[in-house]
Amino acid sequence: MSKIDTIKNVLICGGGLMGSNIAFVVSSVKEYEITVYDKFPVDVEAKIRMSTKQLVEKEIVAPEELEERLSRIHFTQDIDSEGVKNADLVIEAVFEDINVKQETFALLEERCRPDCIFCTNSSVMSPSWISEKLTHRERFVGTHFWNPGHLIPLVEVVKTDATDDETAETVMDFMRKIGKSPCLCKKDVPGFIANRMQHALWREAISIVENGIASAEDVDTAVKTSFGLRLPYLPPLVNSDLVGTTLTYQIHSTVLKAIEDTHEPSPLLKEMMDEGKLGFRAEKNAEGKRVGFMEYTDEDIEKINAGLNEYLIKMLYNK
Ligand SMILES: NC(=O)c1ccc[n+]([C@@H]2O[C@H](COP(=O)([O-])OP(=O)(O)OC[C@H]3O[C@@H](n4cnc5c(N)ncnc54)[C@H](O)[C@@H]3O)[C@@H](O)[C@H]2O)c1
Repeated sequence: MSKIDTIKNVLICGGGLMGSNIAFVVSSVKEYEITVYDKFPVDVEAKIRMSTKQLVEKEIVAPEELEERLSRIHFTQDIDSEGVKNADLVIEAVFEDINVKQETFALLEERCRPDCIFCTNSSVMSPSWISEKLTHRERFVGTHFWNPGHLIPLVEVVKTDATDDETAETVMDFMRKIGKSPCLCKKDVPGFIANRMQHALWREAISIVENGIASAEDVDTAVKTSFGLRLPYLPPLVNSDLVGTTLTYQIHSTVLKAIEDTHEPSPLLKEMMDEGKLGFRAEKNAEGKRVGFMEYTDEDIEKINAGLNEYLIKMLYNK
């Protein structure tokens, strides 16, 4: 049975990009007091003000609501503080390093109450691995938030082989309560749910370019102007039902034999890395552009980065 009603004090461990945005999201529930613990000095309030600027400008969050929410988010560098000892639920978002994560949870287990729920926000590391040295693994679960954490609705709640049902149910309820759309990943598998699908698509996209079937530009255009456009409305399994199971079976009988099934990264990626074609992270070429699958000026890069939040806000809030 869910213990959602017992949760009042939430500890966010790590006040970086993800931790600060997660703290803001948790503060949407008025009864929650939030502590952000970080080993290093970080200005969590400034980070939240920065990332929520567009939400305030577009009147999705009122200025007074932001102030009230910030007043319930307390920062500490003291692992022995009351916010750590009194936590009912912890969400860890420290560096993506197994030693840092395991050491952090060892310190927390010594200090937190015996019924405290532990969540890890690792994007690729297995929650079973992160929790392997803990005594109470039944109260440990993965919670994969997506960046930008204050906007993307999905949180994958990942059970390990030891997570008990009560913990999983409580964390699912908690995510719903803070306004997220949680999905339960019943097995601790690499890529959880969404990244398995996302990277199956990337593998095929790269393979189409590698095999000279289409240009990189045309691959992206094909996605944006066809199934990508209708995907939030018609996701794959409803789409399969819509066309009918028989047609899906027939299409797969032909297409699956032809599409990419390698279990290794594409040699094209290695070639591009050797040539310094690192996308937004590439050095500028003679024309002042950074090269990956496509070429970008600094202006292009700025526009794409800034435009993402605008696009998400339009999709989510119609503003
Ligand atoms: N950035 C993303 O797109 C994204 C998306 C989903 C999940 N994640 C995961 O979230 C976690 C955090 O990522 P981020 O992008 O916020 O990183 P970040 O570098 O912005 O923040 C990490 C924070 O952890 C703090 N920290 C480091 N060691 C610590 C310790 N021992 N105790 C307490 N605090 C410590 C750092 O001071 C820093 O503020 C990682 O596991 C990452 O894989 C990141």
